[in-house]
Amino acid sequence: MRATGPLKNVWLCANLGEARLLTMKLLVTGGAGYVGSVVTRLLLDAGHTVTVIDDLSRNDATQVPAEAEFVRLKVQDVGQVLTAEYDAVLHFAGLIAARESMAHPEWHWENNLVTSLRLLDAMREVGVGKLIFSSTAATYGDPSELPLTEAAVTKPVNTYGATKLAVDMAISSEAHAHDLAAVSLRYFNVAGALILQNGQMLGERHDPETHLIPIAMEVAAGRREKLPLFGDDYPTPDRTCIRDYIHVADLARAHLLALEGLSLGTHRIFNLGNGNGFSNKEVVEAVREVTGHPIPMEVAPRRPGDPARLYASSAKAREELGWVPQKPGLHEIVADAWTFMRGQA
Ligand code: UFG
Repeated sequence: MRATGPLKNVWLCANLGEARLLTMKLLVTGGAGYVGSVVTRLLLDAGHTVTVIDDLSRNDATQVPAEAEFVRLKVQDVGQVLTAEYDAVLHFAGLIAARESMAHPEWHWENNLVTSLRLLDAMREVGVGKLIFSSTAATYGDPSELPLTEAAVTKPVNTYGATKLAVDMAISSEAHAHDLAAVSLRYFNVAGALILQNGQMLGERHDPETHLIPIAMEVAAGRREKLPLFGDDYPTPDRTCIRDYIHVADLARAHLLALEGLSLGTHRIFNLGNGNGFSNKEVVEAVREVTGHPIPMEVAPRRPGDPARLYASSAKAREELGWVPQKPGLHEIVADAWTFMRGQA
């Protein structure tokens, strides 16, 4: 069953008058996924009309909000539904697991780059000239200077990041040559869940799950015996990798702001993180504190393609988009993720 309900969250209630003035017809690729479904929810709440396409290769349709039109379709076939009536496309569909991208780079080039090029073709053909793209901190690789600004060198250390960087470059060319108005949002580590006033929740349900917070919570919930800790020999204070965690609802709100800030022939790039780096051990400790369960860990070899330290400067998003995270704390992010996980069958 797809997600239903009269669904206004607090932030959108406060902004509804303004959002209604900007009502658009939007196409969302990958709207059955974690971030795509949360953004779809907020777009609908803001009064937009949304068509979701998703091939359901990594998800089912349960998280697609019921008020959205849903078409099961691969991105490369988007021409079957995209018409000049659409005002903009938000492009989430793609593969996200860095380790998988090292073992099966061809999957990532095909599903991230080739499909995105076909999407750009389809948009150009029908004259849809606005795009929001899910890019990633993985485009920067293993940075020498932190926090990461958008001016940092882009030198990905995994194929996933390389494919997303290639798409960003293709979008820049498209904006320059064909007047596309585009924004790429470079996500740092997204976590947490959208919890609505009616109790409905949208959260992370990757299959297979590869991310640290949900895996640690699966251990807390007794669904896994222990957490494999990938590497304890990194050049960081506690020898484990450092990441910047951002609440999915805060991330989603940035998409709505970006949609309002699109400008013809321009490709703007924004980092989205909270600017605080937490080590893997600190994250596991936060999950222990929030869940009240022990989380046994077992040190495993480093995961290929893992940068040691990543955290963002999101000053540009704050200044130019007016983005203000509402739940920047790691514990509140983990708490919402835990609420969501406990609500799952
Ligand atoms: N980790 C473990 N054990 C696990 C899972 C993860 O030790 O079972 C470690 C990883 O090795 C890494 C850290 O936890 O050091 C975070 O790993 P995640 O898989 O949760 O997230 P990543 O940092 O690999 O990747 C995520 C997104 C990418 C995005 C990136 C940007 O999946 O899309 O954040 O920082 F690019």
